Amino acid sequence: MKTVFSCTFPLVILLYACTGPRSAATVQFNPYEYTIQKKATGSNGAVSSAHPLASETGINIMKQGGNAIDAAIATQLALAVVYPSAGNIGGGGFTVIHLANGKNLTIDYREKAPATAHRDMYLDAAGNAQTQLSQNGHLAAGVPGAVAGLFSCLQYASLPISKLIQPAIELAEKGFVLTESEARHLNNIQPALIKYNTVTPVFVKAAGWKKGDTLVQQDLANTLKRIRDKGMAGFYEGETARLIVDEMKRANGIISYEDLKNYQAKEREPVVFDYKTYKVVTMPLPSSGGVLLPMMMHMIEDQPVKQYGFQSARAVQLMTEIERRAYADRAKFLGDVDFYKVPVKKLSSKEYAVERMKDYKAETAGSSKTTQAGLIPESEETTHFSVYDKSGNAVSVTTTLNGSYGSRTVVGGAGFLLNNEMDDFSIKPGVPNLYGAVGGDVNAIAPGKRMLSSMTPTIVLKDNKPFLVVGTPGGTTITTSVFQTLVNILEFDMSAEDAVNKPKFHHQWLPDEIFVEPDFPQAVRQQLQQMGYKVTQRGPIGLTEVIRINANGSIEAIADKRGDDSANSY
Ligand code: DON
Repeated sequence: MKTVFSCTFPLVILLYACTGPRSAATVQFNPYEYTIQKKATGSNGAVSSAHPLASETGINIMKQGGNAIDAAIATQLALAVVYPSAGNIGGGGFTVIHLANGKNLTIDYREKAPATAHRDMYLDAAGNAQTQLSQNGHLAAGVPGAVAGLFSCLQYASLPISKLIQPAIELAEKGFVLTESEARHLNNIQPALIKYNTVTPVFVKAAGWKKGDTLVQQDLANTLKRIRDKGMAGFYEGETARLIVDEMKRANGIISYEDLKNYQAKEREPVVFDYKTYKVVTMPLPSSGGVLLPMMMHMIEDQPVKQYGFQSARAVQLMTEIERRAYADRAKFLGDVDFYKVPVKKLSSKEYAVERMKDYKAETAGSSKTTQAGLIPESEETTHFSVYDKSGNAVSVTTTLNGSYGSRTVVGGAGFLLNNEMDDFSIKPGVPNLYGAVGGDVNAIAPGKRMLSSMTPTIVLKDNKPFLVVGTPGGTTITTSVFQTLVNILEFDMSAEDAVNKPKFHHQWLPDEIFVEPDFPQAVRQQLQQMGYKVTQRGPIGLTEVIRINANGSIEAIADKRGDDSANSY
């Protein structure tokens, strides 16, 4: 499917011109008229992301000699401009990389709790959780990690940051036209933007936004230029840091100069596990996916799910019970490993998965009252994009502001939205976060701690070469969507396109319900209800981007049908 967006008045339908000596890489496509493409096939490289202009940015960088890491950096920066609901420099994320030389690595640039944050900071005098504070406005923001993450990735890139950031600067400075859904989303949050900002941001428009309107973000362009000129210090120190701290002081925020200056991304050992003949490479904690994905894949590995058939009631029931067990363990055991001893090895082991499935009963609804976390001795907004280049480098990136447009607070004069990631901590034991996830001590707030995440950027290797690059946004549904996408391809032999677009379902232990997408088959819902399940219809689940590399070297990039997501290849 192709959808064309263009401005409604005869604006410059020209490519951006050079803007001076620094603009080595100018935007090579038309940001006033562009096309959404759901499937792209090529043999040199591919990008699938939440926005056509971001995917095009990545492809152009590869065409100019950049590798997949260069393309990922440029795509991520472009998303920070053209996809403000989730693309960001004021949030954080995870990047999983497979280098052509065979090395796997991950970069953790998850936000951190500020130094003056404390365990009960979102409780009122009576001890009640105040989720309006952990979810909106200045106090909801963790110390942003995205820019540190980009610079950490840069060591594996081949082009200078000045070249990789230039398209984002131009998109911010000269503008791009809005898609219908971006205009609608911006209109939906106008009251919140007015309420949670001390300086009116460019996203506020009294007359309302419509498809084809041009969004220009000069303050953001200036921030990006400071990053281009001063590197990490262009964000974590100097003018940008001053603008962030001033913004904090104008309201109830607590991020300080020291918090910003001390922020560091971390290269972490990837989670690598075998699934039949494949190797799966994914993100470790603070991504819960690094524990839950191996757990769920190990639980399904010995089950005859293929025989049951895709989305047969029996297959969905089995996968639901697997998801229930994984999420019960998430609530009890998972948090930042730098702060808490998490039994990662045990939870991710095949033996534990087999043990966990011993009480599984086919065709009968389990219960989250009786299925608790395993016994181990105690010792909507995010965005994903996938990139692959012809040399065999693969990059899987999920970044987030947490909720759609994060805290809704834009740093005055700096033009970027701050995250509301503090809500991903367990602000009070048992109190559900924005995505209904519950937790306890292990994910409680502490100064400098990273909050638990569901983001699961993943690469599947076949014969030690990239086969799939996968990931999605969607809060707690991220891990179950990645699980289902892998099962669809590895077990049901589905095409990448079907694996992404077929209806998804989700169970997260609590609430004890199976959530299904609107197009999930009615007959299967009824069969599940007869088994004793509560089945609840909800909105679309995730925006999954998959790149599949076939044995003949052809590269297939798929963008989820559920959004403006767009795939490019060449
Ligand atoms: O890190 C997490 O798990 C959440 N902050 C992700 C939020 C998300 O995916 C929202 N997207 N729809």
